[in-house]
Amino acid sequence: MHIINTVSDLRTVIRAWRIAGQSVAFVPTMGNLHAGHLALVNEAKKIADRVVVSIFVNPTQFGIGEDFESYPRTEHEDQAKLNAAGVDVLFQPTVSDVYEPDARTVVSVAGLSQCYCGASRPGHFDGVATVVCKLFNMVQPDIALFGLKDFQQLAVIRTMVRDLNIPVEIVGVETVREASGLAMSSRNGYLTVEEKIVAAKLYQSLCIAREAVLIGQQSYQEIEITALAFLQESGFLPDYFSVCRASDLKKAGAEDKELVLLVAARLGNTRLIDNIYLSR
Ligand code: PAJ
Repeated sequence: MHIINTVSDLRTVIRAWRIAGQSVAFVPTMGNLHAGHLALVNEAKKIADRVVVSIFVNPTQFGIGEDFESYPRTEHEDQAKLNAAGVDVLFQPTVSDVYEPDARTVVSVAGLSQCYCGASRPGHFDGVATVVCKLFNMVQPDIALFGLKDFQQLAVIRTMVRDLNIPVEIVGVETVREASGLAMSSRNGYLTVEEKIVAAKLYQSLCIAREAVLIGQQSYQEIEITALAFLQESGFLPDYFSVCRASDLKKAGAEDKELVLLVAARLGNTRLIDNIYLSR
């Protein structure tokens, strides 16, 4: 595996692959890699000749008072995992490689970036869209893979790619979970042993709500209220629980068939998110 830090070195390697007619898949990450990230890498290996993974803790997607400084950085472990997974290039730029000191351009996906996680994390999705757009321009992949766990992020990126005619195919990969059902996340490392047990109830709240949607006896609003109460009783400080239309994340109506249940809640100092897709 090549470890590359600069855009010019990255372009040199990728140019040679292109001349050889090879396809390129790209998996952007912020490191502290777990089985969820590696599922994206494994999927990438199946669908392209070459795989590039980036590790970049992107400062512009963290708000004031969020965990940019303390975000877990585990460079050596990450490198070993990517090497073992058969990744061709690990692209690991510094902040000054990625951002000009007087950068003025921001990519903003209106509407989708302001609701749900965007409402409690103002500017977060502008930071995500901007860095992913920049990374796409640096790597110029054929395909890029993202986790369904971050469903709103995936929706923002799909919309950005569509609206800006970016020639990258976006692939969503199923959420990898712990045996308890808890979605794997770099932020799970912030949880205490006791909190980790409670954290599994976030997924439980989604499973209970999915059953209720499928049975069809309660309104979506009632299902949301029941889920919020369940989370509060379990010890969470819920941010939102929403029965949405999978296509545009607007509130689902009775006529909608493809749904996604979105949840975010704080447990102690840790903010957790999860979702389930369902078709009725
Ligand atoms: P990060 O949180 O490191 O996640 C990188 C990718 O891994 C994202 O596409 C995310 O959805 C996926 N992922 C995380 N946990 C997962 C799980 N349990 N199962 C499946 N996939 C999972 O998301 C980001 O970084 C950043 O916002 C980024 C897109 C890199 C832009 O900075």
